[in-house]
Amino acid sequence: MILFSTLSQLQTLLCTFFFFFFFISLSFSQDQPPIDPVEQKALYAVLNSLNPTIPWTTDYPDDLCLSAPHGVVCDYYPSDGENGQNQQQKAHIVELNFGYVSDETPNPPCSPNATLNSLLFTSFTYLQKLFFYKCFNNTRNPIHLTSLPSLPPSLQELVFIQNPSVFSPIEPFLRNLTSLRRLVLIGNAFHGELPFNIGDYANFEELTLSTNNLSGTIPASLGMLKKLKILDLSQNGFTGCVPEQVGNLTSLLKLDLSYNGFECKIPESFTHLQNMKFLDLSFNLFGNFGVPLFLGEITSLKEVYLTGNFLSGKIPEIWEKLGGVEKIGFSKMGLLGKIPVSMGIYLKNLSYLGLDNNQLDGSVPEEFGLLEFANEINLENNNLSGRISLPSRVEQKFKLAGNIGLCLGNNASCSSQNGESLGQLNPYKITDILSDDDDVLFSGDSLLHFDPLMLVLVLVGWFLLIFTWDG
Ligand SMILES: *[C@@H]1O[C@H](CO)[C@@H](O)[C@H](O)[C@H]1NC(C)=O
Ligand SMILES: *[C@@H]1O[C@H](CO)[C@@H](O)[C@H](O)[C@H]1NC(C)=O
Ligand SMILES: *[C@@H]1O[C@H](CO)[C@@H](O)[C@H](O)[C@H]1NC(C)=O
Ligand SMILES: *[C@@H]1O[C@H](CO)[C@@H](O)[C@H](O)[C@H]1NC(C)=O
Ligand SMILES: *[C@@H]1O[C@H](CO)[C@@H](O)[C@H](O)[C@H]1NC(C)=O
Ligand SMILES: *[C@@H]1O[C@H](CO)[C@@H](O)[C@H](O)[C@H]1NC(C)=O
Ligand SMILES: *[C@@H]1O[C@H](CO)[C@@H](O)[C@H](O)[C@H]1NC(C)=O
Ligand SMILES: *[C@@H]1O[C@H](CO)[C@@H](O)[C@H](O)[C@H]1NC(C)=O
Repeated sequence: MILFSTLSQLQTLLCTFFFFFFFISLSFSQDQPPIDPVEQKALYAVLNSLNPTIPWTTDYPDDLCLSAPHGVVCDYYPSDGENGQNQQQKAHIVELNFGYVSDETPNPPCSPNATLNSLLFTSFTYLQKLFFYKCFNNTRNPIHLTSLPSLPPSLQELVFIQNPSVFSPIEPFLRNLTSLRRLVLIGNAFHGELPFNIGDYANFEELTLSTNNLSGTIPASLGMLKKLKILDLSQNGFTGCVPEQVGNLTSLLKLDLSYNGFECKIPESFTHLQNMKFLDLSFNLFGNFGVPLFLGEITSLKEVYLTGNFLSGKIPEIWEKLGGVEKIGFSKMGLLGKIPVSMGIYLKNLSYLGLDNNQLDGSVPEEFGLLEFANEINLENNNLSGRISLPSRVEQKFKLAGNIGLCLGNNASCSSQNGESLGQLNPYKITDILSDDDDVLFSGDSLLHFDPLMLVLVLVGWFLLIFTWDG
């Protein structure tokens, strides 16, 4: 009985809700202001130029702000010219996203021979975001943006991802777009130099220009972009010294200059980038000034990559405040000397460490065996020596091949090139015997050369030393 009555109550409730929302939505759609007819016509033309195989006017015959393809977004504005009390509103297109991304983001797809109708540039005066994903791939029919009218200055976000036939110098194309907050141009054929007055684009929060054909130097005025959080110029042909002014970009979270031709010293001013989590300077031509010491002051760092720059010198002792660092890429840098034990002590959250293909010698710090989150510790192709025994949990995470004189576990025959198959655990684990503080004393490689008998002898001698000291 009770169940029955609650069920019928529920039905009544549902009916009421249904009619309520039905009338609400009905009255909304009747009130909805119509799209600007100029924009409706222009959008059909643009869609046709991007993909002539879809009958756009048949598939979407109504007001394109009421029933639009995914990726078309409208907003409402007071219509021009009417100043009375019952002011009319008008719908305008504020976002256009083209190129099928995924089932969750099924933007209108572009056909293999997509072109760009120039109405796109002149008809959408309220446009805030324009997005193209894999739309222009026919390099025999390149899209020259410079031969088209300029984009509306209302634009705040401009995104071109993987459109290799979009071929344009970046400079005149950006000229009037001073409202831009995000400029994301990845994997296109933009070329030429950054505008010298790029500092005038005061609203920039993200500047990602990765994988184009850009060249020249970074203009000093870039340092004026106080809101910039992401600067990614990777995989281009940039050259010259990185200006000290980049250190003025104190909001930066990510700085990626990898795969370019940058030279000189890495600017000391980077020490001011106190919010930076991600720094990638790998594969440039930075000079042999050593690993920059300022890294030790950027306590926000999570990932740092300097791989493929011949910085040379020893790995400095800069790790004390970097407990949050998760990934370090210091491969192919001409690094010399020993791996500091302090890396193993302070870098508790380390998951990736690349020190391979350097000229490091001495032993592997035993503390590396205690890294809780280790995923890959690559020490291949150095001149490391001594005996190392690792807990089985982290054993497979180590890459040690190409180190002449490195012995693993208790394998009596120290081979010259192993690392694939690690030996068994040494029953006398040095880390078990010594506490953290004592490890610093024994940071050298000498202890690791001894076999268990020698270790016992050394420990006896050590106790004797302390005993006589005390007495
Ligand atoms: C695009 O290519 C298809 C065949 O691949 C062709 O039928 C069509 O005419 C082309 N459209 C344009 C505008 O070139
Ligand atoms: C783009 O073109 C390249 C070669 O010109 C081809 O390998 C690639 O598959 C194409 N990509 C798409 C999404 O059509
Ligand atoms: C920038 O705007 C000015 C004035 O609105 C216009 O004359 C000029 O052609 C525009 N420049 C570009 C590159 O579109
Ligand atoms: C990049 O620019 C160089 C020189 O300006 C040119 O030789 C090269 O073909 C360009 N590459 C691409 C992919 O456009
Ligand atoms: C920008 O950086 C330069 C060089 O590091 C410095 O001299 C200048 O004072 C900085 N300007 C601002 C506004 O912080
Ligand atoms: C290390 O990682 C843990 C878990 O991800 C996190 O809670 C901790 O804050 C990190 N340590 C530092 C010093 O950032
Ligand atoms: C490796 O270290 C040994 C001494 O431990 C030294 O004799 C040898 O020259 C070094 N080899 C290289 C390539 O640095
Ligand atoms: C010791 O090292 C040699 C040469 O690398 C290898 O063939 C052998 O399997 C290792 N022995 C053990 C017990 O791991």
